[in-house]
Amino acid sequence: MTTERTFIAIKPDGVQRGLVGPIISRFEGRGFKLVALKLVSPSKDHLEAHYADLKEKAFFPGLISYMLSGPIVAMVWEGRDAVKTGRTILGATNPLASAPGTIRGDYAIDVGRNVCHGSDSVENANKEIALWFKEEDLISWKSAQFEWIY
Ligand code: RTP
Repeated sequence: MTTERTFIAIKPDGVQRGLVGPIISRFEGRGFKLVALKLVSPSKDHLEAHYADLKEKAFFPGLISYMLSGPIVAMVWEGRDAVKTGRTILGATNPLASAPGTIRGDYAIDVGRNVCHGSDSVENANKEIALWFKEEDLISWKSAQFEWIY
């Protein structure tokens, strides 16, 4: 079993629309374990570091101002294939291409207001977790739920 950790964020529109609970429920209900959680207002520099790979894209300035428009819920979830399955739970980047039953397929329409973020590889998950959290913020704990899921 490959237990992975992935970085999931609820973007400012998700927080302001009251979707924090429903989004967390999807990860909990699927059987992933929460190992870190915080409400944050990151700086522009922090967001530019997070999205450094996209800095040449035309939508980059709009993306940064969207991400600066309110607090973000930053989380780390752990479990089998957490990175890939986390992306499946989120849905496609463009909500119009997201299947019903995914977060974006149920709650979003516009690619520039797509409610949530999820790491796209184990390597990027590790980088993003290190960018958003200190090592001591990551809590290792025994979940009774895990005994039934795995
Ligand atoms: P994310 O990092 O937020 O989970 O999104 P992603 O990997 O699925 O997609 P990525 O290509 O990394 O894009 C990051 C975020 O930029 C915004 N975006 N806007 N054409 C556009 O206007 C456009 N394309 C992407 C989205 O908010 C996307 O999630």
